[in-house]
Amino acid sequence: MSIFKSHTIKKAVVLLSGSGSNFQAILDSITAYEIALEICAVISNVPDARGIDRAKTHGIPTYIVNNHDYSERINFDKALLDKVVKYDPDYLVLAGFMRILSSEFIKKFNKPIFNIHPSLLPKYKGLNTHQRVLDKNEKLHGCSVHLVTKELDGGPLIIQGEVSVKNDDDVKKLAARVLKVEHMIYKKALNLFITNQITYENLRVMKINKEIEIPLKVRMD
Ligand code: GAR
Repeated sequence: MSIFKSHTIKKAVVLLSGSGSNFQAILDSITAYEIALEICAVISNVPDARGIDRAKTHGIPTYIVNNHDYSERINFDKALLDKVVKYDPDYLVLAGFMRILSSEFIKKFNKPIFNIHPSLLPKYKGLNTHQRVLDKNEKLHGCSVHLVTKELDGGPLIIQGEVSVKNDDDVKKLAARVLKVEHMIYKKALNLFITNQITYENLRVMKINKEIEIPLKVRMD
């Protein structure tokens, strides 16, 4: 029986490509009964991703779908989707997944796909965000959780975490500070959906059921 009285436990499949510290932060909040989520599988496109070891430690089923094994992207996407739908998850959670999902994949899944991105979107879409922020002498940086649409890093924003850029910051220092906020905001974003404070209508539309201003902002310095 669920200890969460007002809502049922949702199921998610996590996709990742690397360290998996965001996945770990979500897992920790599940273990602490902060969010009513079950992670039913973790899939990586990178065979030796550390996130896979983290999942194994917790007895979560893991799969590798290596993009290098597929000459056509459509076949990679199909192999990935086949694994995902086996679990019939409510959500797909991208946690440092460094591949772009095709619009066919997104359309076929037809349920919320969340992504976390290391910038204050719509600024700094794409890669090397921390370096680009430093190059531009920005004073404010951060991270965003958004729904995935076919536009790269362009889907509706749910929550953003802000940090100041300091005079002595380098990429490593700044990335570490942003990552800490990522770990705070991803579980919050998921919880807004799990607890029906936001409901998913379609790729572009989220229904806000409570008086909250979206994107929510969190500041950490
Ligand atoms: C995180 O900083 C995440 O925002 C970023 O990759 C890192 C993964 O770290 N994602 C992207 O850049 C996606 N475009 P983690 O593996 O330790 O969670």
